[in-house]
Amino acid sequence: MAFATRHFVRAASSAAATAAAKKLIVKHVTVIGGGLMGAGIAQVAAASGHTVVLVDQSDEILKKSTKGIEESLKRVTKKKFADKPEAGAEFIEKTLKNLTTSTDAVAVVHSTDLVIEAIVENQEIKNELFKRLDKFAPEHTIFASNTSSLQITQLANSTTRQDRFGGLHFFNPVPVMKLVEVIKTPMTSQKTFESLVDFSKAVGKSPVSCKDTPGFIVNRLLVPYMLEAVRLFERGDASKEDIDVAMKLGAGYPMGPFELLDYVGLDTSKYIIDGWHSLEPNNPLFAPSPLLNKLVQEKKLGKKTGEGFYKYK
Ligand code: NAI
Repeated sequence: MAFATRHFVRAASSAAATAAAKKLIVKHVTVIGGGLMGAGIAQVAAASGHTVVLVDQSDEILKKSTKGIEESLKRVTKKKFADKPEAGAEFIEKTLKNLTTSTDAVAVVHSTDLVIEAIVENQEIKNELFKRLDKFAPEHTIFASNTSSLQITQLANSTTRQDRFGGLHFFNPVPVMKLVEVIKTPMTSQKTFESLVDFSKAVGKSPVSCKDTPGFIVNRLLVPYMLEAVRLFERGDASKEDIDVAMKLGAGYPMGPFELLDYVGLDTSKYIIDGWHSLEPNNPLFAPSPLLNKLVQEKKLGKKTGEGFYKYK
């Protein structure tokens, strides 16, 4: 019996070792898009010991991204190494050493394990990028998109590596928010999925998994909730101020739905809901809102334009 148990344990651990050996350990990462999200993803990947190349369209944009990363690192370090300024300085130096930039994705992708795309939220532009990179990236390289609202499956279909393609949905601001949604399409291999989960953990995040469905977990719940708040206000059932107060004090949310809509941007929210509505026109949760559409038409997009549901001037 003891022999059988020992034999079983040995067999099981060797099976686990084989499975682990098959998983890709991501060391080198290419992040495409040095905006709000891409810069944050590059920062956390570099800070956790990965070598990272951050790619964008011009050196000017990349300079801005790098400056943003340096400032963010200083903020992180101040908190993390409050009593050890020398260790903090070393951490920043090490992180920045791991990070380089480029305007030529094709030229840098040949030596990468993982490509994370965080460019403009446009299906055609993303498809074109993935199709091009697919020709130059090595066989083993995993592709991932940070898209909030597009289907990962459709992006994967622009490549020949559908089994090595998944979603890695980070949250804003990336260095602060602990969550990553790891998206598995019907074609994503288990090995790819596990490599993406491992990578998310390696950059210090808590991964959750979701199928390739509109909005994944967080936005699937959050966007209809915000739209329902707009409908409540549109019907005249309650004022937007009272709805915000109610959700903060009654549900413990840090922001009310109208404050959150203004923070996210009304154009972004409209873009998301319109996309889902075209996928599922009969789903009442995805119905467009006349008031939201009107504000977007008037260029009242929220905090970034100085006015949305509230005025910020
Ligand atoms: P952003 O507008 O701040 O940055 C996009 C960057 O991509 C820009 O710097 C732009 O120059 C660059 N870019 C555009 N086309 C490119 C190309 N072909 N090659 C290289 N660089 C290119 O956008 P943001 O907010 O960082 O969003 C990026 C992605 O992340 C989108 O898919 C968005 O849906 C998603 N996302 C956004 C969140 C947010 O709160 N902003 C949250 C989670 C996901």
